[in-house]
Amino acid sequence: MKIIVSKNHDESSLKVALIMSEIINSSKNPVIGLATGGTVVNVYQELVNLYNERKLSFKNTKTINLDEYIGIAPTHEQSYRYFMNSNLFDKIDIDINNTFVPIGNNSDTDKALADFQYQLDNNDRDFQLLGIGPNGHIAFNEPDKYLHANAHMISIAATTIEANARFFASKDEVPKKAFTQGMGDILKAKSIALLATGENKANVIKSLIFGDDVSTDNPSTFLKMHADTTIFIDENLANIIGYK
Ligand code: PGA
Repeated sequence: MKIIVSKNHDESSLKVALIMSEIINSSKNPVIGLATGGTVVNVYQELVNLYNERKLSFKNTKTINLDEYIGIAPTHEQSYRYFMNSNLFDKIDIDINNTFVPIGNNSDTDKALADFQYQLDNNDRDFQLLGIGPNGHIAFNEPDKYLHANAHMISIAATTIEANARFFASKDEVPKKAFTQGMGDILKAKSIALLATGENKANVIKSLIFGDDVSTDNPSTFLKMHADTTIFIDENLANIIGYK
């Protein structure tokens, strides 16, 4: 695992966007794994900037997202499909048919999961972008006795509902379940970049960076078993955890 410390979160975001841009520009048919959440918003803004400067085209790119809330429609403002469209897809030259986000209001959940797994099994990802939850979750792989290898349905942890309530009118409106890639799916991406900022991520990032344990109590620690993962943090977070 490589650790890259930047002056601030904007600089981390730019570095990650440049790595993504390099992969996209140098592959004929790149497949890029995408994430949602407050942490990655600036990465998408930087990608849009590169596109506007004509330094990047998404014409031949395919994307697959990590997860989606169950029970809300793709048009819902807090759905991850809506997040992706408004932060990135609507602003670049990607073919929307080449973007995959599970459909959260598909009442046939078995079919939704089968479609998700089909996408993952038939599109080897060149790169996966990740955020991390304050409890160490990656996508919606929440701390538990077991993790899962493949796409599955999960009950969102109470701490995650709490953390994500800021995006909804109230905590009660946060969906309780989600579709998520499994840890095995995520670890299959050729290279991974995890981006973190903020004091509420300090404990999990500390055990990810300093600890040797691979534990389902902190799902992010499974990234230690991946051959090409880079953790991007800013100086503020590095100082809090004592990383020099
Ligand atoms: P955040 O979410 O970027 O909004 O903190 C990250 C996550 O929960 O994976």
